[in-house]
Order: sequence, then structure tokens, then C-alpha cells
Amino acid sequence: MLEGKKIVLGITGSIAAYKSCLIIRQLVKRGAEVQVVITPAGKEFITPITLSALTSKPVISDFFSQRDGTWHSHVDLGLWADAMLVAPATASTIGKMAHGVADNMLITTYLSMKAPVFIAPAMDLDMYAHPSTQQNLRTLQAYGNHIIEPGTGFLASKLEGKGRMEEPENIVACLERFFAQQGSAEGRENSMKGKRVLITAGPTYEKIDPVRFIGNYSSGKMGFALANECASRGAQVELVCGPVSASMQASSPNVHRTDVESAQEMFEACKALFPSMDSAILCAAVADFTPETTATEKIKRTGEDMVIRLKPNPDIAASLGQMKKEGQTLVGFALETNDEESNAQAKLKKKNFDFIVLNSLKDEGAGFRTDTNKITIITAEGKTEFPLKSKPEVAKDIIDKLEEI
Ligand code: CTP
Repeated sequence: MLEGKKIVLGITGSIAAYKSCLIIRQLVKRGAEVQVVITPAGKEFITPITLSALTSKPVISDFFSQRDGTWHSHVDLGLWADAMLVAPATASTIGKMAHGVADNMLITTYLSMKAPVFIAPAMDLDMYAHPSTQQNLRTLQAYGNHIIEPGTGFLASKLEGKGRMEEPENIVACLERFFAQQGSAEGRENSMKGKRVLITAGPTYEKIDPVRFIGNYSSGKMGFALANECASRGAQVELVCGPVSASMQASSPNVHRTDVESAQEMFEACKALFPSMDSAILCAAVADFTPETTATEKIKRTGEDMVIRLKPNPDIAASLGQMKKEGQTLVGFALETNDEESNAQAKLKKKNFDFIVLNSLKDEGAGFRTDTNKITIITAEGKTEFPLKSKPEVAKDIIDKLEEI
């Protein structure tokens, strides 16, 4: 996957600099061409001779070559590269990158970089957790850089790593995944053009009184990832979402969003939209029950026990399953804690889904309030298990399956 890729590897003054050799070896083994740019502090930890032997290229560290005074062009490097990787990235370099303090060749190269930039932080935990470092990393993320979260092997979406640099093989795997996705994204740009997809996302809130509700922990992240993925493939998306945090925003104008609160409201919205859709993906965590009555005024403490009687909500999935016409595809989710596969199989039939995406709460990193998910896709014919991935990557697998049907 990295065959022919041109990588600028920035090395800074961390004890983890020796691991750069392993990164170079793995990159070169996979067919990449590597140009090292090292900071003056980096050279205290590893010698340019070792690095140039591994990359078969002179190492760049000064603005001028000491030997003949030739000018090293950071602008040319910025155009040459397919990616820049800063590994290890110290707190100091991260700070300079975030603020454009261009006092060495690595930072000037970064500032001229036209290719995606990956940063693998390396420092002790206190330094990593310090608000200054966290703020700088968030700034770099906001500028579109990719942070390789220490200790997770993933590109970070929120920062909670342990400071110690991610292992070289995981860093290289991150780059490979990125290029693989980029490659396939190019092929898929218009694969869903003209298709209309309904997606439900988030929790529902069932009102008890004007200030209280019954809800659940769904964040809506999986549903938004699915909406973004469909939109990036050219589909027109109708996203019906329950109450999610204000930070949840669809990234494309191809996503039209309808905000609802209760299961009943979600049901009405979906019923109206579904007949004109090619497919629907029901990712919302819909409350199965709602209070029989909603108090019009805030319920007061009386000192007595309190009983709220619940009545069943409409099953949106089952209703759409009944409405489903030839040519329409219906996809459901199942979050199970036990007898996962047989429960999912039963839901597939009962709700007339074409396939069902199973996540088990037994799997660490799967389910609610996480940035990752581990799924099994179940059809009437069989099942496919996938490894733990970030939710946007999981969305790609699900939409690939949708397109296959
Ligand atoms: N679903 C729905 N409307 C509901 C409940 C569920 O559309 N009122 C959808 C979910 O979005 C999901 C699928 O149905 O795609 C399965 O949800 P789940 O809660 O696991 O199924 P239930 O039928 O509620 O079964 P359980 O008894 O396990 O809660």
C-alpha cells in the first residue's frame, strides 16, 4: 500500500528517536521513499549517519548544507511528499508547529507541507496531559493534522493517550490505512450518486415532566459517521436524529438533518421519508417505552415511592420493514449483551432487514460513547466479523456492504 509513496519523516529530540529507525525500516520495506528532516535536538539522540544509511538519502537538518552551502528547500519538500510524519514529536515541536515558530528546518518544512501531516507524540504522561500540550494538539487537529494517539494505534479523534510514542508498526499501519482509504475514496466518490438514504441516529428522550426524561447513552457518532460516508460517496442523506450534543455536525451539504426528541417524533419523520428512499439505516437507540402520561408540571417530591407507568413505543424498524418495497434496502443495528448472534438473527427476520450490524457490549471499545466500534454484519446467508476500528472506518465497511446488495 505504501509502494512509491514519498514520506518526509521529521525526527525530534526525544528518547524515542531510536524508534525512528524501525519506522524507516518498515516504511522502506513497504516500498516507500523516506526523506528524514531532523531537529538539532533530534541529532543528540540519533546520528544522521544511521538515518541516511537506512533511507539511502542525506539527512536534512540545517537550512544550508554544511559541505557546499547549498540551500535546502523546504518548499520543494512540501511539494515532493505524499505525507509528512513527525515521529517522535516532542512537546516543544508540537508547540512550535501549533504556533508557527519556524526556527528549524523541520518546522519550515511543516509549514510548507502540501501533503497530509501525521504526528506521533512522545513525552512523559504529565507533559502529554498538560493543558498546554493538549491545547496545542487540538490546535494542530483543527488545522487538519492527524494525531496518532499514543498507545491506541489509531488516529485520535479525542485526546486521551498515555504520552509514550505509539509503536512503530502501529504508526506505519495508520499511514497504510490512511492511504488505503484515500485510494478507495477516490474510486468511490460518486458510487452512490442519485441514491437517497435515510439514517436515524442518537438517542430518543421520553418526557416524564417538563424537566425530566428517560433517555440512553447513545452519542449519535455512529449515525453521523454513516451519514458522512454516504454523502462522501455522492448520496443524498436524510438524517433523522434524536437529541445529540451540539458538536455533532454533518460534514456535507448532502446531509439534510431533521432533529426530533421522542421515539414517536422519530417514527413520524421516518414514515414520511421512507417511501422516497432507496435505503434506510436505523442506527438510533430508540427508547422501547415511554411514560403513559407526561406531567404538565414538574413532579414534586412527596416522600412516597414514585411509579411511572410506561407504554410501548412504535417499533420504527419493524414498521419500515413492513412498508419496504422491492428495490429498497433496510439495515438495522443490534446492541446485545448476551446470545448476541441468535438475537441479531431473530431481529433480522422480525424487522425484515436486509442485514443487521451487531455490536456486543462484551467487546471493549464497542457500543455507546466510544470513538471505536467492533461489528459483525449478519445477513440471512451468514456473517462477517470485523476488527475494532474507528467509527468512520466502521461506517465505510457498513456502506460497502450496503452498496454490494
Ligand atoms: N429500533 C427502532 N425502533 C424501536 C426500537 C428499535 O427502529 N422502537 C431499531 C433500532 O434502531 C435498531 C433495531 O431496531 O436498528 C434493533 O434495536 P434494538 O433496541 O436492539 O431492538 P428491539 O426490537 O428494541 O429489541 P430489544 O428487546 O433487544 O430491545
